[in-house]
Amino acid sequence: MNPTWVMGFPNGYETGTYLALDMGGTNLRVCEIILLEEKGEFDIIQSKYRMPDELKTGESEELWEYIADCIQQFIEYHHEVEDLQHLDKIPLGFTFSFPATQTYIDKGVLQRWTKGFDIKGVEGKDVAPMFEADIARRKLPIRLSALINDTTGTLIASAYTDDTMRIGCIFGTGCNAAYMENCGSVPKIASYNLPPDMPIAINCEYGAFDNEHYVLPRTPYDIIIDEDSPRPGQQAFEKMIAGLYLGELFRLVLVDLHDNKSCEFFSGQDISRLRKAYTLDSSFLSMIEEDPFENLSETGDLFRRELHIRAKQPELELCRRLAELIGTRAARLSACGVAAICIKKDIKSCHVGADGSVFNKYPHFKARGAVALREILDWEKDQKDPISILAAEDGSGVGAALIAALTIKRVKEGNLAGIRNVEGMI
Ligand code: BGC
Repeated sequence: MNPTWVMGFPNGYETGTYLALDMGGTNLRVCEIILLEEKGEFDIIQSKYRMPDELKTGESEELWEYIADCIQQFIEYHHEVEDLQHLDKIPLGFTFSFPATQTYIDKGVLQRWTKGFDIKGVEGKDVAPMFEADIARRKLPIRLSALINDTTGTLIASAYTDDTMRIGCIFGTGCNAAYMENCGSVPKIASYNLPPDMPIAINCEYGAFDNEHYVLPRTPYDIIIDEDSPRPGQQAFEKMIAGLYLGELFRLVLVDLHDNKSCEFFSGQDISRLRKAYTLDSSFLSMIEEDPFENLSETGDLFRRELHIRAKQPELELCRRLAELIGTRAARLSACGVAAICIKKDIKSCHVGADGSVFNKYPHFKARGAVALREILDWEKDQKDPISILAAEDGSGVGAALIAALTIKRVKEGNLAGIRNVEGMI
């Protein structure tokens, strides 16, 4: 649970031009966002850059250089080079979607890498100066105004257009949520003596829930995923529900069934492709769950095409059921995270903004999550869902820009909680 120094919701009338950098997992995205005068309106231009896999497990210097390269390309493409020298430094919101301890809004000490990242020399260090050094070297007209988590961005971006939003979630490669707390209820910031009812967004980092394995029953496949990951013992909850792991869970079960000779599963087939770890991603399961045909012919084609396996009808049926189980467990556990926040904050009705590939693309995820939320929170049978999880606004773009805007605004108004360098902010 990390305090974020995002001190309240936007009112929809924030304005100005901001840059946003989104380092999520799969891609790197640079955006320029103009928050317009009209309530909740904005313009955005953006470019996506592939995040090469080697970078995720490489050296820290290469990562920061690559990021600065992408920002430089973006700025040079969208602004006249002559203008660059005269441009005021544009405030930038950096969405760094990993657990970070923040003593200031523009600082963040990486607690640990998640989602398969394993870059040396970053854990335990403040990522802001590493990022800023390459930006300064290239003399890019940028100042880092806020380092944010994708969930906080999602919460704030969604609240910009919908004032009933109370929670921002990501159900994607990783999973997590953020919500607004009162400073008085956050022991970690008690020493700051802030007004107890002042709001502060909390990044829950609930992907790390139950790292001690006291609560959730784990299957042998969950244990293998954890043990073979770059950080065994970390992100226990995330490893059961996030997109990065769903395909791998499925693969591990199939390999186990095959290797257990008494099952005669895929017997006589060459399963060498299936033996490769992380060869299936969650879109493979999505396609199986989406197969509209009774005889699962599309699933059969998929196995032939991707894995060179000719599956028999009962094998296909088992695969479908297995995908359903994995997808349903993920959706139901995801709903537990949302329900936990609602119970803690005694929220009886609200909107929850959600983003991420699993939420947006995995079939039935939303409906299964909604059913689970209803069961956990025990709503009346005929009662319309008082809490619903909806597709969020772009948190890592618009959300990051809004947080930069909100930070500058509150510094000007004299609220300096979590602000290190007042002059540099305004
Ligand atoms: C990270 C969180 C992030 C989530 C979703 C997790 O692995 O620890 O900080 O919010 O992924 O991207």
